[in-house]
Amino acid sequence: MSAQDLFKLSGKVALVVGGGQGLGEASARYLADAGCAVAVVDREPARAQAVAEALAARGVKTTAIVADILQVSEIERVVAETEAALGGLDVVVSIVGASKFGGVLELSEAEWDNDHARNLRYFFFLCQAAARSFVRRGVPGVIVGIATAGVNGSMPFRSAYGAAKAGLVHLVRTLAVELGEWGVRINAVAPGLTVTPRTQARVANEAAQAQIRNIPRGRAGTPDDIAKAVLFLASDMADHITGATVPVDGGSTVAPNYDLGPSRAASKRNRLAMGKDPLE
Ligand SMILES: NC(=O)c1ccc[n+]([C@@H]2O[C@H](COP(=O)([O-])OP(=O)(O)OC[C@H]3O[C@@H](n4cnc5c(N)ncnc54)[C@H](O)[C@@H]3O)[C@@H](O)[C@H]2O)c1
Repeated sequence: MSAQDLFKLSGKVALVVGGGQGLGEASARYLADAGCAVAVVDREPARAQAVAEALAARGVKTTAIVADILQVSEIERVVAETEAALGGLDVVVSIVGASKFGGVLELSEAEWDNDHARNLRYFFFLCQAAARSFVRRGVPGVIVGIATAGVNGSMPFRSAYGAAKAGLVHLVRTLAVELGEWGVRINAVAPGLTVTPRTQARVANEAAQAQIRNIPRGRAGTPDDIAKAVLFLASDMADHITGATVPVDGGSTVAPNYDLGPSRAASKRNRLAMGKDPLE
């Protein structure tokens, strides 16, 4: 099979939770481009509807489902409605997640619980519902979750979020092992700073701009950057990849936390002083 064919998901059904904007909208679009029918799930009816309509206008078989995915009973309904509307379920992508800023001295019990509910707790039950659907129908399904590049270091002033996302990474490893015998794969994408409708205002501030200057790729991520990795992991190109968390962060995870500008300039100056071409 050609590499292009391995990316094709024609005849597959994808469920994108949080598909109404940002990383979810981009993931829905990429999966549809690869040939999937797509169920767009969002708690905001207008967002789910708008994305589904945009896909339908391009000839994609799609349905909009309004649900608050944090409610476990809603998860079962979402899976059942997707199967009924689109004739199956092969790929589940979940984007839902968010963080509450707050240091260890001030974070409340409710805030801790909320970050775990919206990043980790629901994700387990979504994986469970998806896995039951795959196993019941004998489908070698795929699940893709969203972590954060922060799990590779620390997440100061976002401790509840960081712990929940680290939990998601561990859950992905464990479920990959449990579900391997059923042919089900599960992976996660770990975005670095990514410009979405939600983060747009925040990335304009000086602290974020300093962070962006330190990203080896020289820019913040876009929803399409994340969607490309989601599509790769959902496709047969990633047939032998399971239990993995793939950083899509422009290299920020491996970059040092200080400004490399002076070292780069000094290195170039030294080469020139030695009478050498700095690029040789
Ligand atoms: N943007 C970044 O810089 C960045 C970095 C690392 C990780 N992430 C992760 O990416 C994901 C968020 O991406 P985004 O900025 O596109 O998100 P977003 O907040 O814009 O949410 C995407 C969609 O999810 C929907 N949604 C939220 N809660 C829901 C619920 N309970 N049920 C159903 N739908 C719900 C929203 O209405 C929205 O349309 C999160 O998991 C976040 O932790 C983002």
